[in-house]
Amino acid sequence: HKSQAWSALFSEPMSELVKRYTSSVAFDKRLWRADIRGSLAHAAMLAAQGIISQEDQAAIERGMAQITGEIERGEFDWKLDLEDVHLNIEARLTQLVGDAGKRLHTGRSRNDQVATDVRLWLRAEIDLIGGLLTQLQQALVGLAEQNAAVILPGFTHLQVAQPVSFGHHMLAYVEMFARDAERFADVRRRVNRLPLGAAALAGTSYPLDRERVARELEMEGVCQNSLDAVSDRDFAIEFTAAASLAMVHISRFSEELILWMSQNFGFISLADRFTTGSSIMPQKKNPDVPELARGKTGRVVGHLMGLITLMKGQPLAYNKDNQEDKEPLFDTVDTLQDTLRIFVEMVGGITVRPEAMERAARRGHATATDLADYLVKKGLPFRDAHEIVAHAVKEANARQVDLAELPLAQLQAFHPSIDADVFELLSLQGSLSARDIVGGTSPRQVLAQVARHRQRLS
Ligand code: ARG
Repeated sequence: HKSQAWSALFSEPMSELVKRYTSSVAFDKRLWRADIRGSLAHAAMLAAQGIISQEDQAAIERGMAQITGEIERGEFDWKLDLEDVHLNIEARLTQLVGDAGKRLHTGRSRNDQVATDVRLWLRAEIDLIGGLLTQLQQALVGLAEQNAAVILPGFTHLQVAQPVSFGHHMLAYVEMFARDAERFADVRRRVNRLPLGAAALAGTSYPLDRERVARELEMEGVCQNSLDAVSDRDFAIEFTAAASLAMVHISRFSEELILWMSQNFGFISLADRFTTGSSIMPQKKNPDVPELARGKTGRVVGHLMGLITLMKGQPLAYNKDNQEDKEPLFDTVDTLQDTLRIFVEMVGGITVRPEAMERAARRGHATATDLADYLVKKGLPFRDAHEIVAHAVKEANARQVDLAELPLAQLQAFHPSIDADVFELLSLQGSLSARDIVGGTSPRQVLAQVARHRQRLS
């Protein structure tokens, strides 16, 4: 009885418990397309090297085409007994084309096979993520352009600090997502190396042409050490690290959307299709989407911890521990892609409430720094100016007005060099326009950045 690839050696069948414990087909069948693609490249190379015949290669291609159809139509019979995606496909191939199917595994192990499959699969997912990150940046750039001159109270410590352009604030996230995209592109280079040819761990005695397989699979080169090729999953770990950072950026943005939507801020609203109601409170529109994104960030960071911990105690070379890389990796990809997709849509549905933002900016003496800068231009040392303005703020607090609302005579009491031209500076618009430096928040600079991003993203 031969239901398993190695069973001649075994004197009793595998326990059902063990079968279920070790089987990965329930989740790794997701790799089937990469598995077939890798096998076809391997078979073509075996034939070109004269290791298998042209007829065998043709039979393998025929069988794989049939299997592809079966899987696509949902007719493929995945068997838990056959442990994983690799053995399932190989067994079906042999059923379909006989000995040619049995020759496919020449010079190959599931160890280099699975590492190749995961890399091929992940590479395609990274490309998808790159596209989504571009779309998200474009949506944010659009929002930034429309709101370049809209004034938002900028916060430090969540206390009103200085006025900033709402567009500038959106472009801060564009910078973060641009770095995320760079990180994924960098990870991709290291994902895109070929393990096949490493075999189980030591390489193989067959004259394989690894470079040919790499070219066929559009990989940038072959892994240069067989032990390393089959055993390290650092590429998956660094992918998950990059994904965690991207999720952290989304989570920070989410936190702001949630705050800004609350009645105490009222800075924005989200399109109704992105909010949910309450089963008891009829007035509610809740920001469930950003809240979930913030929550799912924990899940992805958890996967990073899981994967990196999975690796830490493993001796070289392959260990079955590595089968545990798949679920966290798959879930990381799904979570990030779903989140990016929904954020692209949601950003397009943000309505900005400029009056509420301005009102809030007027409540925290947001232009106090501008008054200090004004005094410096009149010749005072900055530290003295800072102290004088602190007195003026104290007075404004006592009168329950904003600094900009103190009458001129009152301001002059703090320093005689203050003239009527100060009010232009103390205005929110004046403060904003004054920060006309590269990377600064003046609407002119914001629009220049919008143009730069547009070009970069096109
Ligand atoms: N399903 C296995 C994995 O995901 C494939 C490699 C198994 N190799 C082995 N020698 N048990 O890692």
